[in-house]
Amino acid sequence: MALRNIRKGGDAVLRRKAAPVSRFNDQLGVLLDDMVETMNAAEGAGLAAPQIGISRRIIIFRNEDMIVELINPEFTSKQGEIVDLEGCLSCPGVFGEVARPQVVRVKGYDRQGRPLELEGEGFIARVLEHEIDHLDGILFVDKALRLLTAEELQKLHGED
Ligand code: NI
Repeated sequence: MALRNIRKGGDAVLRRKAAPVSRFNDQLGVLLDDMVETMNAAEGAGLAAPQIGISRRIIIFRNEDMIVELINPEFTSKQGEIVDLEGCLSCPGVFGEVARPQVVRVKGYDRQGRPLELEGEGFIARVLEHEIDHLDGILFVDKALRLLTAEELQKLHGED
């Protein structure tokens, strides 16, 4: 496994629409292992392949103690709306309020190419939409209702 460099802000790969994965091979396994290691090292809640410079439709996220891998994810439903604070490993030091669905259903594939379907609520629904947005070149700052001010950021970090 290897740590990959996390692409930031204005990097063009973050703005590209990522291509679907067509081969579920060893190379995909290596990429996923690297994504997990990179996300863990950065203490992120989720990571999308474009964030490490790979323009492919692959996301991972943490669900309690488990890491879920999802290839070619697609929403099958979205319900409700919750406004909450979020950030992104590609936008260090920036936090904003974003409206996200309360409950989502997503279908996709695991690393072996087996179909899977999952439901996410609350924080998980937020992470799923945030990560899938990355596959379409969308960053949370594009959708943020407002960004935190320097003063609010200071308070936020003071609470850590
Ligand atoms: Ni992000």
